[in-house]
Amino acid sequence: MATEPIPAEKLPFSDPNAWDNHAKKYDDAAGRSSRLGSSHLISLVESLGPSLSAPDARAIDLGAGTGSLAFLLAAKYPELPILATDISPGMLDQIQTSPLATPRITTQVADMRTPIGGDAEEGAFSHVFSTMAIQALRDPAGEGVLAEWARLLRPDGVVAIGIWIFDEDCGPHAIWQQAATAVEPSYVNPPLLPPGHWLGVSELESGLKTAGFADVKAEIQQVGFDLGKEGFMKWFWESGNPSPLERQQSFKGDLTRVNMEMERLLDEVYDEGRRIPLLVGLAVGRKPRGH
Ligand SMILES: C[S@@+](CC[C@H](N)C(=O)[O-])C[C@H]1O[C@@H](n2cnc3c(N)ncnc32)[C@H](O)[C@@H]1O
Repeated sequence: MATEPIPAEKLPFSDPNAWDNHAKKYDDAAGRSSRLGSSHLISLVESLGPSLSAPDARAIDLGAGTGSLAFLLAAKYPELPILATDISPGMLDQIQTSPLATPRITTQVADMRTPIGGDAEEGAFSHVFSTMAIQALRDPAGEGVLAEWARLLRPDGVVAIGIWIFDEDCGPHAIWQQAATAVEPSYVNPPLLPPGHWLGVSELESGLKTAGFADVKAEIQQVGFDLGKEGFMKWFWESGNPSPLERQQSFKGDLTRVNMEMERLLDEVYDEGRRIPLLVGLAVGRKPRGH
């Protein structure tokens, strides 16, 4: 049974104010990796069809952020209209004020749990995209989110989703965990997502199949978080990204010492921050006719 949605601002990663505050810095760090993931996702979509260059193709991007995916789509498909939606007006502002802005990318504030409304009409899209955003939700499967996304699609339309893979090799979080426990051995790093959430590609793949999508294809890609030491330290300590902020708030010890330990790890283990592993999981599926 679907659970009652809770207000977005009460979810740690769906609070529009938090993302508004971070918006101007997003492309300095996470946006670089999400762009690489988006590029792989577009290739996976192309392997499934229908074509994004078809004259009637129309795409929507849910949780579009600063447009990592939308700008790639616009560059690759010169006729494709793209509706970029997000819960954070500040993130969408970055799309509108980007030097890459084009009238073919329009924006609309929307909660991806209930995306239909305004220009996001039921059955209007050949492609529904979402990259690195669905994990912000508490329980995408339980809340019936993919069924809502399917309603946006025409029959045979394609859904394409990217997620961060939060396993033990996820560099940004491994660095935090190692630094924090070196300073405070009793520190317990809270789980990155609630139990039962989509931490990896197999959960994403089975979520799509359970929601009734056909021809599901999934893959994992290494995109890295290779920001260099200075870039990583800025992202973690200064950028206001909700994820590192949440980690910092969970730690009751001396964060200055964690900061120093993090620098040491970046130097000694992560090639001065030039090689920080980060995987993305990508999956696509088709809405069956009559579904
Ligand atoms: C990690 S960013 C990903 C942005 C972009 N898709 C990318 O790949 O770079 C997560 C985005 O999801 C948005 N978001 C979080 N919860 C949301 C919700 N309930 N509805 C719509 N967008 C949401 C945030 O505002 C943020 O822009």
